Amino acid sequence: MKYFGLILTFLLAVATCKAYEEITCEENVPFTCGQIDRLNSSNFEKDFIFGVASSAYQACCTGRGLNVWDGFSHRYPNKAGPDHGNGDTTCDSYAYWENDIEVIDELSATGYRFSIAWSRIIPRGKRSRGVNQEGINYYHRLIDGLIEKGITPFVTLFHWDLPQVLQDDYEGFLDPQIIDDFRDYVDLCFKEFGDKVKNWITINQLYSVPTRGYGSGSDAPGRCSPMVDPTCYAGNSSTEPYIVAHNQLLAHATVVDLYRENYTHQGGKIGPVMITRWFLPYNDTDPDCIAATERSKEFFLGWFMGPLTNGTYPQSMIDTVGERLPSFNSNESKLVKGSYDFLGLNYYITQYAQPSPNHVDWDNHTAMMDSGATLTYRNASNHTIGPLFTEDKDDETKNTYYYPKGIYYVMDYFKTKYYDPLIYVTENGISTPGDETREEAMLDSKRIDYICSHLCFLSKVIKEKVVNVKGYFAWSLGDNYEFGKGFTVRFGLSYVDWNNVAHRDPKESGKWYQKFITAAITNPAKQVFLRSSLTSEKKEKFADA
Ligand SMILES: *[C@@H]1O[C@H](CO)[C@@H](O)[C@H](O)[C@H]1NC(C)=O
Ligand SMILES: *[C@@H]1O[C@H](CO)[C@@H](O)[C@H](O)[C@H]1NC(C)=O
Ligand SMILES: *[C@@H]1O[C@H](CO)[C@@H](O)[C@H](O)[C@H]1NC(C)=O
Ligand SMILES: *[C@@H]1O[C@H](CO)[C@@H](O)[C@H](O)[C@H]1NC(C)=O
Ligand SMILES: *[C@@H]1O[C@H](CO)[C@@H](O)[C@H](O)[C@H]1NC(C)=O
Ligand SMILES: *[C@@H]1O[C@H](CO)[C@@H](O)[C@H](O)[C@H]1NC(C)=O
Ligand SMILES: *[C@@H]1O[C@H](CO)[C@@H](O)[C@H](O)[C@H]1NC(C)=O
Ligand SMILES: *[C@@H]1O[C@H](CO)[C@@H](O)[C@H](O)[C@H]1NC(C)=O
Ligand SMILES: *[C@@H]1O[C@H](CO)[C@@H](O)[C@H](O)[C@H]1NC(C)=O
Repeated sequence: MKYFGLILTFLLAVATCKAYEEITCEENVPFTCGQIDRLNSSNFEKDFIFGVASSAYQACCTGRGLNVWDGFSHRYPNKAGPDHGNGDTTCDSYAYWENDIEVIDELSATGYRFSIAWSRIIPRGKRSRGVNQEGINYYHRLIDGLIEKGITPFVTLFHWDLPQVLQDDYEGFLDPQIIDDFRDYVDLCFKEFGDKVKNWITINQLYSVPTRGYGSGSDAPGRCSPMVDPTCYAGNSSTEPYIVAHNQLLAHATVVDLYRENYTHQGGKIGPVMITRWFLPYNDTDPDCIAATERSKEFFLGWFMGPLTNGTYPQSMIDTVGERLPSFNSNESKLVKGSYDFLGLNYYITQYAQPSPNHVDWDNHTAMMDSGATLTYRNASNHTIGPLFTEDKDDETKNTYYYPKGIYYVMDYFKTKYYDPLIYVTENGISTPGDETREEAMLDSKRIDYICSHLCFLSKVIKEKVVNVKGYFAWSLGDNYEFGKGFTVRFGLSYVDWNNVAHRDPKESGKWYQKFITAAITNPAKQVFLRSSLTSEKKEKFADA
């Protein structure tokens, strides 16, 4: 019996240790992890960056040359959004950039990911056709303003808003001429801003422009096969996505090479942004579903990660896509392989994968069919993957659902499969309906649930799998134009009133994020001070104290 006490102590120690180490991240509805005392920034390492993100076309509007989203949204208003919304006006971050900085500071965010509009600094696409000094000055002011507040800029060089003139000249990324024009533009950015910007993102979501812009035709420039969508002005949905993706990779790698050869003295880091998803088998005991799940990872992630890590496309893609898949010559392969210091990973959703035939009916074939998988949010037992992500009020079968644990699997996958890269989560967020009242939109509990549950799994995977993640950027800073959705949805942690776009008011999610970030600050006076900056009323109280 004398050992009983010892055993009990041991058991208690194990239990306590486990309780301490394991953060409970709920996997089922409803999420209740929005409690700052349980989950806050102290669950991450000290210098972890908590930021917010935006992009140029979505946030503004004037002071620049036309880009392909201007062209696309005016040519196909219904594709730009059910409300025919576009980026002509939106939240006007060109005029109100100081308000943006103010609200980022109010949220206590330590990073801001924004994009430079190519056509704002080179309105006619090619550097030889002249630069716009006003546009350059604008970005200097913005960057200086952020640094002054201790906010680290993460600058995206290309967030889909190609100068329209380059689409007209040679169809943009469909032609390798894009590589030289992109290099000239990026060289100007390094030269102008590189002494202040230490985190460069080359291209946003390598997967998106090839598949949506040239496959389904649902994004700018709006190319696809006539049988896929007769309104597309031209295109070939089974071949062009691969060419565009290939040229994107070469353009990306070329500017990384430029940075490494000519700008190392600036001491920054550079990488691309991948849109990620996780995939689970539609039926987890069916070998065909399991195979479809693995193919989905290869065709969605490996398409870009194969070249970036090994200089080659995945063998499964080479086998399936055949001669429609371009190949890298030995110099290009060397250029692309290892062309990143970090990976920016955007994560929103996970889907179930099941096999589907890859139609060899070339008229209406798309590159997206080559993976031979159909993706859904319900599995073979009709189980929905998680809480509601987007609701279709007319057709329930079109609802989408989210899966916070997917971020855990994605991070672990990149670590184990792609040689433990330095990672920043460069986007993560959820939309709420644009037709909510201001009061409803401000309350915003759905966004808190989404963000905190993903942060919970992110913290868990960093601890359990030792993934090298150094930052997280919530999408988005404020409400803005959403690609393909117009103003029918809101993604912001701060509210923008479309009748008075100068204001950005933190929603409850923004206030939650602020508390989450500042909770790790151990000095209570500083905490009170930071919180008080949210309302002037509280600020006065603090001054009284
Ligand atoms: C932050 O979380 C930790 C545990 O993860 C907790 O000990 C601490 O009290 C929390 N901070 C605040 C201000 O609630
Ligand atoms: C670096 O700059 C020099 C001089 O402008 C230029 O010739 C060279 O091509 C640049 N390197 C790269 C990799 O672009
Ligand atoms: C569907 O998902 C649920 C929840 O994860 C699981 O219990 C069930 O086994 C899955 N069904 C199939 C057929 O894989
Ligand atoms: C899942 O797959 C297994 C093996 O193919 C099959 O026996 C089972 O009926 C499937 N379950 C469902 C719900 O379709
Ligand atoms: C990596 O590239 C080499 C050729 O350089 C090729 O033989 C090999 O199959 C590639 N590995 C993968 C996993 O694609
Ligand atoms: C590769 O680069 C070398 C040296 O720059 C050059 O001589 C050769 O022609 C290039 N090969 C190809 C296939 O472009
Ligand atoms: C797309 O290009 C391929 C290869 O050139 C061709 O076989 C196919 O018919 C084309 N599809 C359309 C819709 O033009
Ligand atoms: C187009 O694709 C669908 C499957 O996605 C197929 O059912 C249909 O027969 C194909 N052909 C035409 C001409 O629509
Ligand atoms: C799956 O569940 C939904 C809602 O729970 C229901 O409307 C639908 O009919 C179900 N589908 C099947 C195939 O059972």
